[in-house]
Amino acid sequence: MDFIALPKIELHAHLTGSISRQTLHEIWLTKKAAGQTDLEDPLAVIPEGKHDYNLVAFFPLFSKYIYALLTDEASIRHATTAVLQSFLQDGVVYLELRTTPRPTPLLSAAQYVDILLSTISGFEEQNPRLHTRLILSVDRRHDYEMAASVLDLAVETSEGGYAARHAMVVGLDLCGDPSARPSGEISLFTPIFEKARAANLGITLHFAEIQASASKAELETLLSWRPRRLGHVIWEDEETKKEIERRKDELCLELCLSCNVHAGMVEGGFEGHHFGGWRRVEGVKVSLGTDDVGIFGSPLSNEYRLAAQHFHLDNRQICALAREGIDFIFGGEVEKERLRRIMWDEHSC
Ligand code: IMP
Ligand code: ZN
Repeated sequence: MDFIALPKIELHAHLTGSISRQTLHEIWLTKKAAGQTDLEDPLAVIPEGKHDYNLVAFFPLFSKYIYALLTDEASIRHATTAVLQSFLQDGVVYLELRTTPRPTPLLSAAQYVDILLSTISGFEEQNPRLHTRLILSVDRRHDYEMAASVLDLAVETSEGGYAARHAMVVGLDLCGDPSARPSGEISLFTPIFEKARAANLGITLHFAEIQASASKAELETLLSWRPRRLGHVIWEDEETKKEIERRKDELCLELCLSCNVHAGMVEGGFEGHHFGGWRRVEGVKVSLGTDDVGIFGSPLSNEYRLAAQHFHLDNRQICALAREGIDFIFGGEVEKERLRRIMWDEHSC
């Protein structure tokens, strides 16, 4: 099967984790030539071919390095355009890109989001095959005020609030280092996600990524926010698993094979990945995602190839899997219709 030609939906990709080392290197070269950075070359800090970052090594890549490089409009536009281009070239037809709004020394968080929306709109005008929508991320390490400001930005730039051409914010995510706020302290954010739902934003949550973020109290709290999608879903207990099964018509699981295997979040390599277990649960929907293709190095076409190889899926099963996410996108009914046309009518399996 040609996994690149297969039209695909990507629902779990973090913007700055999706930037290739080569693109980071180009941005670094420009800054270095202008005397604007003392950072080491990205190709030395994140060497080509290295993908085995565990979670302890992973999060500082952003806070200590990548964010220090993406500080101005030109570098953010450059990086975002390169990310969109690589998803397009990989056969992705609908992308929900998520990012944590952050101020830089040169830009406010609102300006950062504005730059992304205008870059996405411009790219879509030139490349109408790929439709991209934005999800804003609340980081578990945020305090309440910071999380509330992410929600405000999301509401302002969502369909109701933003006069954009194509791009807009369609959802709110909870992400960030899963070892932060263990033991149910995540309920701090309950009012934020309740308001997001009231504002018609889609809700997607990083769920049970590690044992420390899988306490009964935390998982109950997260499910009480009525998310439409759950990311990772690795360490849930039996009762929570049954609850997910009960909610199978309202929930889709965003599963990320390479990220989980390379980061050592699952045991037994690809064959041991919980994708296999969830696949056997009748009716539970799954959408494959790359999470951070810039770090873990596996584009979405390769995630489908890995699923086919390690879980023995034939072409018909792969096509069915690719289509499962359609009903769970946050981009609205017109977009779902477009995806059904592309993925059912134009592409025969
Ligand atoms: P950004 O939000 O576009 O800057 O993307 C990078 C950020 O996404 C990181 O700083 C993390 O907070 C978050 N992130 C990326 N991958 C993961 C993951 O696997 N689990 C939780 N958070 C993640
Ligand atoms: Zn993620």
